[in-house]
Amino acid sequence: DGDVFKYYADGEWKKSSSGKTVAITNPTTRKTQYKVQACTQEEVNKVMDTAKTAQKSWAKTPLWKRAELLHKAAAILKEHKAPIAECLVKEIAKPAKDAVTEVVRSGDLISYTAEEGVRILGEGKFLVSDSFPGNERTKYCLTSKIPLGVVLAIPPFNYPVNLAVSKIAPALIAGNSLVLKPPTQGAVAALHMVYCFHLAGFPKGLISVVTGKGSEIGDFLTMHPGVNCISFTGGDTGVSISKKAGMIPLQMELGGKDACIVLEDADLDLVAANIIKGGFSYSGQRCTAVKVVLVMESAADALVEKVKAKVAKLKVGPPEDDCDITPVVSESSANYIEGLVMDAKQKGATFCQEYKREGNLIWPLLLDNVRPDMRIAWEEPFGPVLPVIRIGSVEEGIHHCNASNFGLQGCVFTKDVNKAMLISDAMETGTVQINSAPARGPDHFPFQGFKDSGIGSQGVTNSINMMTKIKTTVINLP
Ligand code: G3P
Repeated sequence: DGDVFKYYADGEWKKSSSGKTVAITNPTTRKTQYKVQACTQEEVNKVMDTAKTAQKSWAKTPLWKRAELLHKAAAILKEHKAPIAECLVKEIAKPAKDAVTEVVRSGDLISYTAEEGVRILGEGKFLVSDSFPGNERTKYCLTSKIPLGVVLAIPPFNYPVNLAVSKIAPALIAGNSLVLKPPTQGAVAALHMVYCFHLAGFPKGLISVVTGKGSEIGDFLTMHPGVNCISFTGGDTGVSISKKAGMIPLQMELGGKDACIVLEDADLDLVAANIIKGGFSYSGQRCTAVKVVLVMESAADALVEKVKAKVAKLKVGPPEDDCDITPVVSESSANYIEGLVMDAKQKGATFCQEYKREGNLIWPLLLDNVRPDMRIAWEEPFGPVLPVIRIGSVEEGIHHCNASNFGLQGCVFTKDVNKAMLISDAMETGTVQINSAPARGPDHFPFQGFKDSGIGSQGVTNSINMMTKIKTTVINLP
């Protein structure tokens, strides 16, 4: 009934003294696939102590050496892409090819971060005093970026590897130590990824992984006095983390309701292709998925027909067969999605396909003529169900987008780039994509959510900077 995996502390793989484990349910079979340790609060305390000690000498390790180790970890990770991808298939039902892509993308992200780190951390500032009124040139100011200390990384289930390394690599290159709390679904993939860092030869205690129930160690971790920075991606748990956390830098990405605004002059084939990719890849379980289509009434019939034709071609089934639509992560998630669908049905949305569900597997569904009184107009299903709202004006589309409590990304389709720029400026989201579906990558682009979608900016460069503080030394001349 599932292999049992150890947690990682002080450079060793350990069983928890709790004697308890947490089961990971395969979303496809709905049976226990793996088990991980249910770590205790005392074990968390120990990990924090070793992280603090390890960080002190890591901060003194030359930058080029830190980079060298990261490059090594990236190479090993890519060598291990097959077994890690297999975990992703079993734990989170990610389609087989996408699972491999996630690992390879993660290796690239680590290497890029190492390169970017040696550049931006290798530079400081030099200021002179007489540029400010009333001063002579009697002070020389030198600045550098120094590590924060211990970074706590909490990635979500949908990218347990990629959204872990997007926190780990910047933290390490900047001289921090790292404590990872992986999501339960995806924990084994994350443990295997950290095994690659272990093989690369990072110092003991610099990276740790604690697994267990959020209800037992979640608050304990995020409120721990030993934590100097939290980087979290996930749902509204992030809101409560930000309220409870101490006076430390926070980087949070908490979901979205990305709108796709379609103007009359848009290339509807391009729009349809992007709606399929944006709305249905990984069965809609992406923060940046297209979650509402706002299309001008005059283009709506034609667009809906084109999307319908493409939905009909999506392959639905198990992730092992590399299907486009695979089971959603859990039964409770499937139930939530179904709740949104039933609400829309009751309130009169047009079903472009029949609603169909078997276990956690939900067939792709396009809902036309959705109105603002339906829950799905505002809530994120995190599943393969996409609402279409017909709009009478661009202003109406912008208004709907900005009325959302989320503000992650959005997209606009039009051939008129001037109009697109004005719409982008009007949309209150961290990013607007012109003529393409929302996406976080390439991973060095800045990535940030406005409003309830998060705080701080991610992307390689911003994450490195965010995980440092500025240290200034002033030389006072006689
Ligand atoms: O859902 C996580 C978010 O970061 C999306 O990433 O690469 O699918 O756009 P991506």
